[in-house]
Amino acid sequence: MAPKHQAPRGTRDLLPDETARWRWVEDRARGVLERYGYGEIRTPMFEDFELFARTSGESSDVVQKEMYRFKDLGDRDLALRPEFTAGVMRAYLEHGLGGRTRVHRLWSAGPVFRYGRPQKGRWRQFSQINCELIGSPAPGADVEVITLFVDLYQAWGFRDLTVLVNSVGQPASRRAYGEALRQWLAPVHERLGADSRQRLVSNPLRVLDTKDEAEHALFRELGAMPRLLDHVDAEDRAHWDAVLAGLDDAGIAYEVDHGLVRGLDYYTRTAFEVHDRSLGAQSALGGGGRYDGLIELLDGPPTPGVGFAIGLDRVLLVLEERGLATGGGEVVCVVAMDGTRAAAGALVRELRREFTVEHDVETRGFGAQMKAAGKSGARFLVIVGEEEWAHGRVALKDSKLGTQETVTRAELADRLRARVTRTEDRP
Ligand code: HAM
Repeated sequence: MAPKHQAPRGTRDLLPDETARWRWVEDRARGVLERYGYGEIRTPMFEDFELFARTSGESSDVVQKEMYRFKDLGDRDLALRPEFTAGVMRAYLEHGLGGRTRVHRLWSAGPVFRYGRPQKGRWRQFSQINCELIGSPAPGADVEVITLFVDLYQAWGFRDLTVLVNSVGQPASRRAYGEALRQWLAPVHERLGADSRQRLVSNPLRVLDTKDEAEHALFRELGAMPRLLDHVDAEDRAHWDAVLAGLDDAGIAYEVDHGLVRGLDYYTRTAFEVHDRSLGAQSALGGGGRYDGLIELLDGPPTPGVGFAIGLDRVLLVLEERGLATGGGEVVCVVAMDGTRAAAGALVRELRREFTVEHDVETRGFGAQMKAAGKSGARFLVIVGEEEWAHGRVALKDSKLGTQETVTRAELADRLRARVTRTEDRP
């Protein structure tokens, strides 16, 4: 019988094996972020609902359908964060960071919440790594951020990623483009779903973001889609050209995707995403872009910014499917005999200062311990036999190399140190 309580729909538990893989992914990312000079910022998991409503855009799915909005006992209108950017900008203004140094590089990681229909790659509680470079309008900032984005995936073992890029212009050019989209879609207007028809009025770009395959088929029927890039002004065009040139110089593989619009409304100029087809409908592994009007929208001074978020659950899903991110470090299993239990106990404690060590706590017989060690998948087996121990020695078996040798107690740690592949060393 299923237990009465289960994790809420769209959430899940990470058991130790999985957590080990997550930690590996997070640790790798932390190293890259530190080397890029990003500082970690931790903001609350909930904020005023109004903060998200203002920044994500009233017509976005995130605000319209996906917010975990609630009243607390003090009748405050709050929401669990559906993303990091809004909270990070709030904190940037609240702490007057703009007045200290001009450019800030900030990253965060942790759970975010969106009420969507759970499916492969889509959870209601999921985790993001989020990066923001605040204070620079220069195309070089976009290039750095996209380079960091790609380097994070590289550090996790992804190869041959292609970044999709587009320019989403400015509110004025988007309005002009919206008009062009309305005209383009007019012949199929009656065949669009209710959601898209509504969006055609409130925010036509959102129509391109539809998850409905039938609508994408309609778009293909219509042929050449108007391009936002044809509507951007000269400055935006120059910025775009400079970003692409910078990506070329950096050797970043990208593809221009004229249909790329982001799910949040605050973007200006550069927008980018990476996808992995193995994920099916929820294929975005991460995305971001420039948001030059966002801080002003929060009543701050005009401050440009560019950033991205990576969905860690999807990254882990792909890595697990490909057998990458294998998780915890290598384990040493110490097996004792009746006469060496106390000595083995002391040895275990000593080794645990440096290595991951398992041993029996139930005074089971030698045979049972050996069987358990075999099952545990530990790479190293240290057998503290009575006779060898009397001569200050133990047997060391290495299942990876297929070797067995007798080493002195003093040599043991050195020998293990030379062979253990640590989690952080893995390619
Ligand atoms: P976003 O595209 O909404 O951007 O989300 C980033 C990533 O989060 C997606 O590419 C996807 O991998 C993951 N994700 C989104 N929804 C789900 C879900 N329901 N389940 C699992 N993973 C999901 C942002 O959030 C922006 N704040 C990024 C940004 C930062 N732009 C500028 N700065």
